[in-house]
Amino acid sequence: MELETKRLLLRPWRLEDADDMYELARDPEIGAGCGFNAHKSIEESRDIVRMFMDSRATFAVVPKDLGRVVGTAGLKLGDECSLGSSEDEGDIGYWIGKPFWGNGYAPEAVSALLKLAFEELRLKRVWAGYFDGNDRSKRVLEKRGFVYHHTNKDILWKLTGKVVTEHVMLCEQCI
Ligand SMILES: CC(C)(COP(=O)(O)OP(=O)(O)OC[C@H]1O[C@@H](n2cnc3c(N)ncnc32)[C@H](O)[C@@H]1OP(=O)(O)O)[C@@H](O)C(=O)NCCC(=O)NCCS
Repeated sequence: MELETKRLLLRPWRLEDADDMYELARDPEIGAGCGFNAHKSIEESRDIVRMFMDSRATFAVVPKDLGRVVGTAGLKLGDECSLGSSEDEGDIGYWIGKPFWGNGYAPEAVSALLKLAFEELRLKRVWAGYFDGNDRSKRVLEKRGFVYHHTNKDILWKLTGKVVTEHVMLCEQCI
């Protein structure tokens, strides 16, 4: 499945994207926002690409004019979903490589995911979380009509072993 917006193509990840992923995800600021450790090798990035390829709705974000992967955006459904609790709910997540920040790519990718969620999959609620202090991600969600729902204070984040506070935002058929 592919999604398209004015400037972006959201397409399935491919194994050959591992080099682009590594170039961007080796920067610790990306994982710090998302809750993973900086990638340490192309092989590690390849494992993550494989995981994304197995997921139902995780996409490589490719600006049409650049023709290269700049980040990822995904909708987690069913068992993959950690914030939502029923079949008609989903979670979204995303990152954009630092050299490409500030172009509005993340909100544009989120719009495509919301369209998929509400118009195609007929979900009722889409959730998204951001770590306390990640105002960049908070802005992305606010731009797309998400509203604050609750806070998960001092939770142990398994991927990094760190204790974090996560703010959870909700979008209810807001497009
Ligand atoms: C959060 C993130 C996805 C935003 O992506 P983006 O495509 O740059 O989104 P936008 O262009 O809409 O910018 C969002 C905000 O980031 C901030 N920002 C933009 N460019 C920036 C830059 N070069 N340096 C620092 N902050 C910047 C601005 O506050 C902006 O809000 P504004 O448009 O109201 O000024 C991106 O910063 C990122 O991937 N961060 C690391 C991973 C992460 O936090 N993922 C989200 C997990 S919940």
